[in-house]
Amino acid sequence: MHSKKESLLKRWHSLRINPKRCAKKWNHQYWQNIDNCRVISCANCPSFNEQKQACSINFGTPLRKCVVSSIEAHFFDCKNKDVLEIGFGRFKLAKKLIQRSGGTWTGVEPRRPKNETPVIGKGGYGHATHVPFPDKTFDMVFAVQSIEHWGQKAGGVREPSSYPDCIAEIRRVLKPGGTVYLDAPVHFHGNEMFIMGDVDKVRSLFPEDQWKNVNIEKWREDYSPLQRYTPGQNEFNDWPIEITSYSKEQVAEAKSNGVVWLLTVTAEKI
Ligand SMILES: C[S@@+](CC[C@H](N)C(=O)[O-])C[C@H]1O[C@@H](n2cnc3c(N)ncnc32)[C@H](O)[C@@H]1O
Repeated sequence: MHSKKESLLKRWHSLRINPKRCAKKWNHQYWQNIDNCRVISCANCPSFNEQKQACSINFGTPLRKCVVSSIEAHFFDCKNKDVLEIGFGRFKLAKKLIQRSGGTWTGVEPRRPKNETPVIGKGGYGHATHVPFPDKTFDMVFAVQSIEHWGQKAGGVREPSSYPDCIAEIRRVLKPGGTVYLDAPVHFHGNEMFIMGDVDKVRSLFPEDQWKNVNIEKWREDYSPLQRYTPGQNEFNDWPIEITSYSKEQVAEAKSNGVVWLLTVTAEKI
């Protein structure tokens, strides 16, 4: 839950979010290439305030601060783009940045009433395996803290979806050359590949004959000098329901030593 002060800071950030300021902050290589991933360590992150030795995003959990930074980095340049958000919930930061940079935001969300049909420029009912738009509609498709739930078994809103089906649906509604952005927490909740931080499995969702420029970013895996952020008992309760493909030893290791970090994947449709 947000405190009143946090809610105000969040609203203030959202009110002031501005494509030019984001471009200035993020329009350079803000990552280090390590093992075929883009690593954003807290110490080298443009959001890190060196003087205060703290993250300059002054609201939200450590994970949400990374989500906000990643949105600032990925959505400041959407001029003339038709952009679809899957699982938009109530978080409007990306929508604001897209619209303020001259793009059109459209959304689908399974928790909206079924008769609320989405139209270009508005949100409505839809889900990752059923996006009610024709082929090749969008320049960009994205989901914030949603993909890990698409194939979730515990307490999900419906039967777990197949990830290849979801990615095929995204690919169907993207124009050729269109891009996808997805982010998810690692060592936290949802489908087992995200709980276990299985970067290879995430990458394998984007076969080379269908996608190019597949990039995976790791935010906050290297959290020093900020605090360690770990999953709690609430998250651990669901792990035995979700995790069936990894050994007991791998799960025990993730439980004892895993820190929560943000994974993002971006790719371009061939
Ligand atoms: C943790 S919330 C995140 C909401 C919002 N994007 C944010 O960052 O605050 C997960 C969202 O994903 C949506 N979701 C879950 N399963 C989905 C599916 N199969 N297809 C599309 N959206 C889904 C949920 O309804 C919810 O809005």
